Amino acid sequence: MTAVVDRLRRYLDEQAPPTPCLVLDVDAVVAAYRDLAAAFPGTRVYYAVKANPEPPVVEALAAAGAWFDVASVAEAELCLGLGAPAARLSYGNTIKKAADIARAHELGVREFVSDAEDDLAVLAELAPGSSVSVRILTDAPASVTPFGRKFGCDPDLAIELLARADELGLDAAGVAFHPGSQQLDPLAWDTGIAAAAKVFDALAARGVHPRRLNLGGGFALGYTGTAPAAAEYAAAIGAALRAHFPAGVPELAIEPGRAIVAGAGLIRTEVVGVSRRSATDEHRWVYLDVGRYNGLAETENEAIAYRIEPAGEHPPADGPVILAGPTCDGDDVLYQRTPYRLPLSLRRGDRLDILDTGAYTASYSSVAFNGIEPLRTYCVGGATPAVAPASFAGRHVLAEFGAVDPVVLDDPAALRTALRSALTEAGATVRDLLTHRFQPQGVTVLAMLAESHASVHSYPELGTAFVDVFTCGEAADPERAVRLLASALDAGEVNLSTVRRGGVR
Ligand SMILES: Cc1ncc(COP(=O)(O)O)c(C=O)c1O
Repeated sequence: MTAVVDRLRRYLDEQAPPTPCLVLDVDAVVAAYRDLAAAFPGTRVYYAVKANPEPPVVEALAAAGAWFDVASVAEAELCLGLGAPAARLSYGNTIKKAADIARAHELGVREFVSDAEDDLAVLAELAPGSSVSVRILTDAPASVTPFGRKFGCDPDLAIELLARADELGLDAAGVAFHPGSQQLDPLAWDTGIAAAAKVFDALAARGVHPRRLNLGGGFALGYTGTAPAAAEYAAAIGAALRAHFPAGVPELAIEPGRAIVAGAGLIRTEVVGVSRRSATDEHRWVYLDVGRYNGLAETENEAIAYRIEPAGEHPPADGPVILAGPTCDGDDVLYQRTPYRLPLSLRRGDRLDILDTGAYTASYSSVAFNGIEPLRTYCVGGATPAVAPASFAGRHVLAEFGAVDPVVLDDPAALRTALRSALTEAGATVRDLLTHRFQPQGVTVLAMLAESHASVHSYPELGTAFVDVFTCGEAADPERAVRLLASALDAGEVNLSTVRRGGVR
């Protein structure tokens, strides 16, 4: 791993991006995926996109043949736009609106996880014939960041739900469970596997034959301590499978997030201030420009204790510190019980590196708490983007929509979703979306695309929206994107013109 850290630091030292920022080594992500896949031969490895949805990560994993666990329509669209076939997506979130199910099905997603009868009924109606795994609750030893009782049902109810799924014409594919994230005990999977075996047996007696077992994520990282290696997890899980499924092990899936991306990331942060509560206080308070709300959410309850190192040279003398984030919020304290020591020479403006921060950092960052922007991510490694060999660089489509419902035009979420969907369906890759609502009315949505950019600016009082979509290369069709958007907004009038860019040499 030191090679990865060296590479990330070299990038930071050479490029000096503003702090705080996360740098990710995309090649290290792919290597971690391959290591895990090798430890679990014959098992489908679904990357849990929520851990880090950075497009180059998803793109590289799609190219490496990964499957994807998505928690929302936006994550499904992201994966599809970056080259993952719909057949490799599983909608793993048990909590979904009817509209989410309908849209996921429209996008081609055919695998879902459920834990409730009303969800099954909506799946049967809006995603007919899809494969459904039922998530069970297990009483595995607590992980470092457990899910509590939010997801899953007890195994007896899972039997009824899978039988019901079968009656509803769904494919009762199997059982899913998750032993809790950052699960340090490889034996924790045993109770889930034992419970799943009972569900399989009970259903077989009723003529329903589930075939798949999804073992979830939970594979841990060492951070400041140690964690089992992938091979240790695989050995313990293999033994549990042989013990509880003596007649034959079902098709297997795992859904790692943390274990694939955490080790590939490093956050560089600047010290905003160093102070003591009193002249005799042994501890110094060290305030960083990254905190609980802009990347370090997993420091809640000090659950994850990251390795923190000075980025520059300091004399060896050090002392105890309490670490806190930059916001004016009393909960934005990172570590006050976990002992940390930092150089006595540490001053405002110095830089620190927070290691193994590729998972559940940027994706947890708030949009603008205290006016602080979300954690920026920079990627190193991965594929160099292809340059389109077209005679024109691309097409810039400018459009005006008229006779649009003013309520829709004043709804930032609706415009955002409509723009993202239209762009994705037209072959563009949405890297980022920014929304601004004007007073008293009107919205601008800006989309940063892998192919360039797009925007919508609305005037609810006139029932009008101005739209522009510019895409370089041939992969995306900007005219189609505009037409799809017009139809999503039910625009009564559409005026569209196209400028071919790049003809000037
Ligand atoms: C359904 C599901 N699968 C997989 C994961 C990934 O877990 P981990 O990052 O611990 O591997 C999560 C994490 O929240 C999850 O909710």
